[in-house]
Amino acid sequence: MSFSWTTTKKPTIALSPMADHTDSAFCRVVKHLSPSTIVFREMVSAEAVVRGNEKTWGMAAIHDDERPIIQQIFGGEPEVMARAAKMIVEKYHPEGIDINMGCPAKKIISNFNGAALMKEPARAAEIVRAVKAAVEVPVSVKIRLGWSEPTDCLTFAQVLEKAGADLISVHGRTKSQAYSGKADWQMIKRVKELVSIPVFGNGDVTSIESAKQALETGVDGILIGRGALGNPWIFRDIEDVLAERTPTPISDKERKRIILFHAKLHLKTHGPKSFSSFRKHLIWYFKGQPGVAKLRNAISKITTVEDMENFFKTSLDN
Ligand SMILES: Cc1cc2nc3c(=O)[nH]c(=O)nc-3n(C[C@H](O)[C@H](O)[C@H](O)COP(=O)(O)O)c2cc1C
Repeated sequence: MSFSWTTTKKPTIALSPMADHTDSAFCRVVKHLSPSTIVFREMVSAEAVVRGNEKTWGMAAIHDDERPIIQQIFGGEPEVMARAAKMIVEKYHPEGIDINMGCPAKKIISNFNGAALMKEPARAAEIVRAVKAAVEVPVSVKIRLGWSEPTDCLTFAQVLEKAGADLISVHGRTKSQAYSGKADWQMIKRVKELVSIPVFGNGDVTSIESAKQALETGVDGILIGRGALGNPWIFRDIEDVLAERTPTPISDKERKRIILFHAKLHLKTHGPKSFSSFRKHLIWYFKGQPGVAKLRNAISKITTVEDMENFFKTSLDN
């Protein structure tokens, strides 16, 4: 059966797209721990896809263990966005395409990309219509509350629905807020109540408690971003609680197993010399762990998987 946002299990607990983080390796770690999680891949540039940029094409490659997987694209030209979506779907067959209309980064918002599209509803609608016409898979859009006004999302979501979007994910902050302040879940709730397509909420879900509160708004699903970094078990824990099972505590042995599993997948994905780009994950895995402050110096010297294995053997309790 083909993938559809109206038939996915509700509430859906999904991995939010994060540039440089939700690559194939991390998505595989998440799916290894909770196979029913839907993963959103980091954004890729539609222009770069269409130009045939090798690195970008490599970023969009999919391992079957990641499915169902949604590939996010960004760009401001409807025709380019449509061509990129079609090319990605034809080559890698993701279950869905997501359009980034929320990224606040300076280099993205030029040329009507990312959150800048929230100031251009007509162009945003044209992009959705063009991408919808180009691919058979569901097309979703990830937005913020607005550019500077938190109520922008109310009209904007209706524009996207009318243009044919199959799902809208709302990060409960404006572009002006970037990552400051708290996500406004009451505004996300208002979007959910306004449109009839599924709505996912996003922002500051970092625990079972915050996931439960987020779901009380009635959204169809939640996207978890930073709360999954260093804690890919979060999806399994939330699903356990929703199914009235007691989550399994994460032992030191399990933590080490997953860190090693992730590191090996990272090197497989990015090449044998790519450990330096795994360090950001390593820092997330150790963040807030008891006794880690004392080991900071030793952690900073880890540069290979072998160093990491030795560190686990010699510096941490087994
Ligand atoms: C390092 C990083 C990279 C991100 N990259 C993307 C991206 O590629 N596409 C996107 O739509 N959002 C991106 N985001 C935003 C997240 O998907 C999410 O909306 C935001 O972090 C709020 O959710 P959270 O509190 O669960 O992290 C990124 C966030 C971070 C921290």
